[in-house]
Amino acid sequence: MMGEQAGGRFGPNLWRRLRLALVALAVALALTACADEHPLDTLTEAGPDAQEINDLFFPVLGVAIIVFFLVQGAIIYLAVRYRARRRAAAAAVHSDDPDGDDLYGDDEYPEQVHGNLRLELAWTIIPTILLAVISVFTLISLVDLNEVSAAEDDLRVTVVGQQWWWEFQYHLDGDTSTPPDIVTANELVMPVRQQVPLGITSRDVIHSFWIPRLNGKKDAVPGRTHPWVIEADEPGRYMGQCTEFCGLSHAYMRMYAVVLEPAEWDEWVQGQLVDAAPLEPGEPGYEGQEVFLANCANCHVVNGVSDVNLDDLPDGMGDYAGANAITSALVSGAAPNLTHVASRTTFAGSIFDLYEDRAERIPYLEVAERGDLNRGDLEAWIRNAPGQKANDADGARGMTAFPGLTDGEIDALVEYLMTLR
Ligand code: CUA
Repeated sequence: MMGEQAGGRFGPNLWRRLRLALVALAVALALTACADEHPLDTLTEAGPDAQEINDLFFPVLGVAIIVFFLVQGAIIYLAVRYRARRRAAAAAVHSDDPDGDDLYGDDEYPEQVHGNLRLELAWTIIPTILLAVISVFTLISLVDLNEVSAAEDDLRVTVVGQQWWWEFQYHLDGDTSTPPDIVTANELVMPVRQQVPLGITSRDVIHSFWIPRLNGKKDAVPGRTHPWVIEADEPGRYMGQCTEFCGLSHAYMRMYAVVLEPAEWDEWVQGQLVDAAPLEPGEPGYEGQEVFLANCANCHVVNGVSDVNLDDLPDGMGDYAGANAITSALVSGAAPNLTHVASRTTFAGSIFDLYEDRAERIPYLEVAERGDLNRGDLEAWIRNAPGQKANDADGARGMTAFPGLTDGEIDALVEYLMTLR
């Protein structure tokens, strides 16, 4: 009776709870899978470097699962086998000990055993061998991941982390000692099936560069440039995220690798190499260009239209820019280069889509022409960026608000930005 009651209280209830937990877990997993068509997915590799990592990860995971079940199985077996039993109940099931004299009661301990040479050798030597084998394969993978197969004069990209977005500086001839040919933000456009060597650095605090379907993480540290490589097997869009806590909007420091076929890649490069032509009075976008020059050009560069004037930067931003003096001709040091902003599909650290339904239906190179502008988010961002994405409290980080701009000025500015293709 007592036993039944205890079973009624814990048995079925426990099962019900366990079943509920499993169903909740399954639903959560299913929801995560549908939440984004380009998730931060470490398990579906899309390039040789991510493949290298998973070729190490899955066997190690297999070993870990086997060890987990062996250890947990032993714990459960020993706990059940040697659990304390009530003297009388135990006696009833041990017919060779009808009085239960050899068994122990609630407040007694069984005989304590110390030292078993064979067991202790086994559980020392087996994990040592396992970890030694895993570390050898890990070291081999680490060496492979840092191998640069690209030629000296192949494309190289300097990646600059900054609170809270990523800048990409393209050196088409691989020479990183000269100013970059192209400077862009948020979207690392790259050719398919070609290794792209990266130099990863930061203008302010430590960030970490991570596009999980293409390669592992690499810290972006101010004053240092860490080599890294990236390569994709298939064209597509691969989401990335800063993975080193770097302040208020760390979670909103995203990016995409946009991988194009070689012909499209060439076309993209040719387009990006062209400076913007200053607009003349009467041309569409001219009023917006005036608003831009009066309000935005202190931080943002449009090649051919605005030059960088580091002296005019708000307090604190001069240091910011100085960290990367070689690029200051194209980089304001404070904000994304906007020369071809309309050719990108995201803005504000890839938090907002620049076009509705951007990548699903429209090829990347045609998005500026055929995309349906996400005007709401763009105007809200221009008007009050800190209201859309948390910025530094002292106002020296991230984009500032422009409460003084009229609706008409913002419309004109958006019209101008859309001419920057
Ligand atoms: Cu940058 Cu976290």
